[in-house]
Amino acid sequence: MEIDVKINGKNVHMEVSPEEFLSEALRRYGFLSIRRGCDTSSCGLCTVWVEEKPVLSCSVPAPRVEGKNVTTIEGLEEEARKFAEFLTKEGGEQCGYCSPGFIMTVLAMKKELKDPGEEEINHYLKGNLCRCSGYQSQLRAIKKYLGVDEHESGK
Ligand code: FES
Ligand code: FES
Repeated sequence: MEIDVKINGKNVHMEVSPEEFLSEALRRYGFLSIRRGCDTSSCGLCTVWVEEKPVLSCSVPAPRVEGKNVTTIEGLEEEARKFAEFLTKEGGEQCGYCSPGFIMTVLAMKKELKDPGEEEINHYLKGNLCRCSGYQSQLRAIKKYLGVDEHESGK
């Protein structure tokens, strides 16, 4: 079947099968930042935005984004680079495999949460797994990026 989608602000005409998931379709159309880990909505590697909200693209049937706005990290390069600098400085970037999905979630959090505390940040990130960083360095990077260091608890 054929669908029209706006991806990173550009109209894209896609041919997808009814059983295909968005992660697969986006990769087929060259959006190779989309990583796939579990394919069962458990790791967050495949996070993209649909209508500005983070979704796990491995669990969204591709036909369902007909007429919608989809954003991948390719469409947020400048903002992603800015956050990646914080991540690198704090040692939160290790193998980098989880980074595209993780960064998409952090950028969505920045838009959605005003002045979040540590608990809120952790809650927002609960769907994004990372095998390398142990999460503390990522948390430090996020707090600095959001400018919420004053919420650091127990220090
Ligand atoms: S690949 Fe989508 S959540 Fe793991
Ligand atoms: S940095 Fe390696 S999985 Fe997150």
